[in-house]
Amino acid sequence: MDKSTFYITTPIYYPNDKLHIGHAYTTVAADAMARYKRLRGYDVMFLTGTDEHGQKIQNRAREAGKEPLVFLDEIIEWIQNLWRQLDISYDDFIRTTEERHTQVVAKIFERLVDQGDIYLGDYEGWYCTPCESFWTERELRDGKCPECGRDVQYVKEDSYFFRMSKYVDRLLAYYEEHPEFIQPESRKNEMINNFIKPGLLDLCVSRTSFDWGIHVPRSPEHVVYVWLDALTNYITAIGYDSGNPQLEAKFARYWPADVHLVGKEIVRFHTIYWPIILMALGLPLPKKVFGHGWFLMKDGKMSKSKGNVIDPFLLVERYGSDAVRYFLLREVPFGQDGVFTSEGLVERLNYDLANDFGNLIHRSAAMINRFNQGIVANPGDFEVADEELAELAVLTVQNVEQHMDEMQFSLALVNIWKLVRQVNKYIDETAPWALAKAGNQERLETVLYVMAASIRVASVLVAPFMPRAAASIGKQFGFSLVEQTWASLGDFRALHPGGQVATGMPLFPRLDMAVELETLATLGANRQDMKGKEQVGEAGRWGHSHKDTAGAQTASVGEAEKHKGNGSEGGQAVENIENKDQIGIDVFGQVELRVGQVRSAEKVEKTDKLLKLKIDLGTEVRQVVSGIAQYYTPESLVGQKVVVVTNLKPVRLRGVDSNGMILAASQEGMLKVVTVSEEVPNGAVVK
Ligand code: MSP
Repeated sequence: MDKSTFYITTPIYYPNDKLHIGHAYTTVAADAMARYKRLRGYDVMFLTGTDEHGQKIQNRAREAGKEPLVFLDEIIEWIQNLWRQLDISYDDFIRTTEERHTQVVAKIFERLVDQGDIYLGDYEGWYCTPCESFWTERELRDGKCPECGRDVQYVKEDSYFFRMSKYVDRLLAYYEEHPEFIQPESRKNEMINNFIKPGLLDLCVSRTSFDWGIHVPRSPEHVVYVWLDALTNYITAIGYDSGNPQLEAKFARYWPADVHLVGKEIVRFHTIYWPIILMALGLPLPKKVFGHGWFLMKDGKMSKSKGNVIDPFLLVERYGSDAVRYFLLREVPFGQDGVFTSEGLVERLNYDLANDFGNLIHRSAAMINRFNQGIVANPGDFEVADEELAELAVLTVQNVEQHMDEMQFSLALVNIWKLVRQVNKYIDETAPWALAKAGNQERLETVLYVMAASIRVASVLVAPFMPRAAASIGKQFGFSLVEQTWASLGDFRALHPGGQVATGMPLFPRLDMAVELETLATLGANRQDMKGKEQVGEAGRWGHSHKDTAGAQTASVGEAEKHKGNGSEGGQAVENIENKDQIGIDVFGQVELRVGQVRSAEKVEKTDKLLKLKIDLGTEVRQVVSGIAQYYTPESLVGQKVVVVTNLKPVRLRGVDSNGMILAASQEGMLKVVTVSEEVPNGAVVK
């Protein structure tokens, strides 16, 4: 049977600059939805791309002293690399400078002129170049762009106009008949009250004061208004009016789009102008436009000029793509605005990913290895606790499906994490280590099976959000391809006994809040260089790159970070399993530990948590930045003999070089630097 289709798009971003975490937000959301639909068996078309014409791009290229296309190519490469690092599984990437787009836009324009929807006139009014938007005097707010608050310019030029007014009634009727069309619902009222009721003016759809755009064939001094050009990408990319039968079949297959995902500030273009353009072309309208909220910073909207933009590349490099994806979609209900805080990020990664999820996978694999030779056990009869967990797993699948259908990513994740926490609780309560000690093999095997079966369900459920973790768990637990399908989730027992489970490293490391806050403070706009061109190493992708880069970190030996409701406390036996991941002596030998004596210590300026230490290693004096200022006064450390990790890659924190790391033990708000007896010489190797 032919598969149902699902066509989803992101806005095509302006490549006037590198993108920030806000752009990544929309793209990650679209990707999670595309992956989810593929798992549900849909034939998915996921489109993203770049909006490359217009005054803004022309100005930026000029400022950079480059030809527009040369300027653009570099940024597009950066953007595509960013999407690779974030595991964005787009099916097509459209650039509006491509011929497959420009030719069709020119044709469409001509046709709309011929049929009288576009007419020649002249424009006089205000223009906001950053938003590429026309505004009337009345619409301006304090003389500035009502959208972005920036300066506007007065423009007076010959222009073509689109007869929007002709279609207003049909548009309103469409809203009425398709209550699903604009989501969330509140945005529909905004459109009607703010833009349609005051009287929809005809839209200016060409410019003559610059030439970086698609030229109107009949009067080439006009370039097509960038929004008319851009919106059309949704149909040109899938072959509309291409003259190529194969591509036209593609268009017939995927159009109308199932959802255009956009930020709230461009809902207006997608729910007023775009439907009207489509009506004029005699095409069906998209089924849904979802206008999500903004990711804001504590001091408001992200902007380069404020210097508060977060570079997604650096986040992925440090925490891994899964962690960044999870955070973005979990943190804020989709549709609402949310504030990006470093604390929020680190807490989510520590509590949800390291404590709850990573810990579950890690301890379960370890127990299956310790108590059942790493084999998925053959279960005996299910007891009440087993049945309850199995029922919760199946119910969770249904809840996730419902929330995904409503594009409520955070709620889907909340439900998955309820299951994850419940599995941790189940393990604590059934205490496999005690069953093993008591020699209750049959019950032990059932419990181990239920653990593995729950993990299977959870790993498939997280796959749209965290594709790497899902794949890694599938491999580690030896799940078959069938066992990793969504269709198999309805049956908790679809997992076959007998598979081989490997022990593994924790999927998500626990992070030191103090060190991360300091580091995140430096990931601002000032560091948004072309770094993204470098490939992020494998370690970075897996979220372990902090080990390479956080040389200033104070190692937390045996840190027992507990989270309420986490349910991961498991008594002595589990403590052993969790903390003692077996490694070979060769792995341990890669870490170089030496004794050093603190010669001087001082606080790093403008930080609460960092101390700069000069440490005498016998043959050299090293500078190490350590996140221990809340536990030690600088003076109290001078003269102490400490243990230093001497072969960590150097890093810079708050502008200070750090070349190594000192060891410390911490638990529940207490932290003590590991010290060594006076008589050990500086530079002595610790092993
Ligand atoms: N080129 C137009 C879109 C044309 S679509 C036919 C454009 N480009 S943009 O580069 O400015 O991207 C805007 C989009 O990026 C927003 O609509 C939203 O999807 C995303 N975001 C940019 N900043 C954002 C936040 N701070 N928060 C959330 N999303 C943000 O507009």
